[in-house]
Amino acid sequence: MNKKYRVAIVGATGAVGREMLRMLQVRRFPYISIKALASERSSGKPLSADNPSIIVEKLTPESVKDVDIALFSAGATVSKEYAPLFVKAGAVVIDNSSAWRMDPDIALVVPEVNAHVLTSKTRLIANPNCSTIQMVVALQPLHAFAKLTKVIVSTYQSTSGAGQAAMDELRSQTTDVLAGKKPAPPRKMPATIAFNCVPQIDVFEENGFTKEEMKMVYETRKIMGIADLPLSATAVRVPVFRSHSESVWAQFEKPLSAVQARELLQKAPGVIVVDDPANKKYPQPIDAEGKTETFVGRIREDLATPNGLVMWVVSDNLLKGAASNAVQIAETMIEKGLI
Ligand code: A2P
Repeated sequence: MNKKYRVAIVGATGAVGREMLRMLQVRRFPYISIKALASERSSGKPLSADNPSIIVEKLTPESVKDVDIALFSAGATVSKEYAPLFVKAGAVVIDNSSAWRMDPDIALVVPEVNAHVLTSKTRLIANPNCSTIQMVVALQPLHAFAKLTKVIVSTYQSTSGAGQAAMDELRSQTTDVLAGKKPAPPRKMPATIAFNCVPQIDVFEENGFTKEEMKMVYETRKIMGIADLPLSATAVRVPVFRSHSESVWAQFEKPLSAVQARELLQKAPGVIVVDDPANKKYPQPIDAEGKTETFVGRIREDLATPNGLVMWVVSDNLLKGAASNAVQIAETMIEKGLI
């Protein structure tokens, strides 16, 4: 990796954009320059106290100049408009929004699972939904061995998945309740999040599932390359600031014991097995925060179904669920000589 790249972060002031910059820095990504792009609101200001020399620029059609790699996390509307402009100007775009994920011509990539779809023609890559990424990282090594036939998942998703405003809402409502007051009415969340669990992430679709739940269905099938995989999800927001947890139930064609699954996951890229319940060792969101791996534990053979396995999967939604996966895609493209 001798070449150095001119990198742009679109949405650099956002929760994920900030983590993208931090990942480029801590992972020693070979960048020669960083262009921090955001809305007019942030333009001209230093990006952060940690990066006072990086001055935020307003995103305009002119921003596409002198960029080799653009990491996008400014929402689907901005991605729809600007990603094609960056590609046209010669950049490789890695987009964290939902804008392009289900486009059959666009690669949807989790490097541990489907790096093989990246080719010299790939110029726009979609970064999957956070809850999908950590689940497929845990399922792929088991699928490679025993062939997945069905998945049922329930998620316990942190408020950071809905942005800084949602985290602020959790903090202020919690403070209200602890002070003996009625919590302030929800603004960012669909219902009170302090001391509660909310079984709604994103809007409801006609089939009764939420958009978040259907993203898990469609994106998992696309990334794992199993077009007809039966999958059903229930996505729940819980009063946690950071890291998503998931109870994943999976059924396989071949028998797969908990011992075998543990061994496969111990060898799997990007996975850390934490599975010693007798000593109270299992993955927890507070331990996953700030880490780029996916943590798997509570691995059990299912009691109700043959060849069924149950596990608990935890990962930092802002890192593996967003920023570190995006940076890892760029690293993979460089390693493969595609950029
Ligand atoms: P800004 O901070 O200037 O509004 P989050 O997901 O945490 O809300 O962050 C969204 C990111 O997307 C922020 O960096 C925000 O910049 C940026 N953004 C939102 N709308 C636009 C836009 N129209 N053009 C450029 N950046 C945008």
